[in-house]
Amino acid sequence: MFVSPQVLGTEISLLCMTGDNLEHIAIIMDGNGRWAQKRKLPRSAGHKKGAEVVKEIAKAAHEKGVKYLTLYAFSTENWNRPKDEVDTLMGLLRQYLKSDFSELHKNNIRIRFIGERECLDADIVQSMHRLEKETAQNTGMCLCLAISYGARGEIVQAAKKLASLVKKGDLSETDIDIQNFSAMLYTKDMPDPDILIRTSGEERLSNFLLWQIAYAELFFTKTLWPDFSADELSDIINQFSSRERRYGKV
Ligand code: IPE
Ligand code: IPE
Ligand code: MG
Repeated sequence: MFVSPQVLGTEISLLCMTGDNLEHIAIIMDGNGRWAQKRKLPRSAGHKKGAEVVKEIAKAAHEKGVKYLTLYAFSTENWNRPKDEVDTLMGLLRQYLKSDFSELHKNNIRIRFIGERECLDADIVQSMHRLEKETAQNTGMCLCLAISYGARGEIVQAAKKLASLVKKGDLSETDIDIQNFSAMLYTKDMPDPDILIRTSGEERLSNFLLWQIAYAELFFTKTLWPDFSADELSDIINQFSSRERRYGKV
């Protein structure tokens, strides 16, 4: 089949747009409280605005050709916040899970959740299962939401699973390697993040994907999560394309 140079050109520029080997973006969505505080609003207003931005950024990432977008929405440590704030966050999560996902469906987006589900209320877990099932056949971007997630806990449960396989005689200790360890993590069958973004000016990882970000390119922006935009995401993707990833080689 004849392919015109123009068509080829478009394909090449699309490839450049998403950078070399950009499959997975992970974001620590931080700064909701400060966003509200700056406006003399309750912290809950920041969380509400932050939840709205999630769908917008998911759509933008999908349009950029990103294959996986993992968003840190609630950490295992966030359970230690005051009860009314935890209740607000769980209320917003409930609302989000029951909201209109037709746009995401239309865009062929698949949803999955990672984290300690046993800590969540039964109705929330049920809604998560339902949404994962309903979108399982979608073949577009995977939107992965980290809720009640903590990387150290994830790594410990992976070690326990491997230990139990060894104990049962299904795996020999000497066969434990990076591949089968990764396969015990919540993120099994997902590529490692290429980009990790943290909003709000904090430059720490706060127990997010510690194993998976071994070679991620890190981006810290002062923008508070409720102000994060598709334009800023594009800008970060452009910066990523000009970074050289050496993986220890010269
Ligand atoms: C991020 O915003 C949302 C969650 C951690 C649930 P914060 O609530 O941490 O906002 P700041 O950091 O206090 O501004
Ligand atoms: C990290 O933000 C967790 C999420 C964004 C869900 P935090 O605001 O909880 O992190 P710390 O406490 O500043 O490290
Ligand atoms: Mg914070």
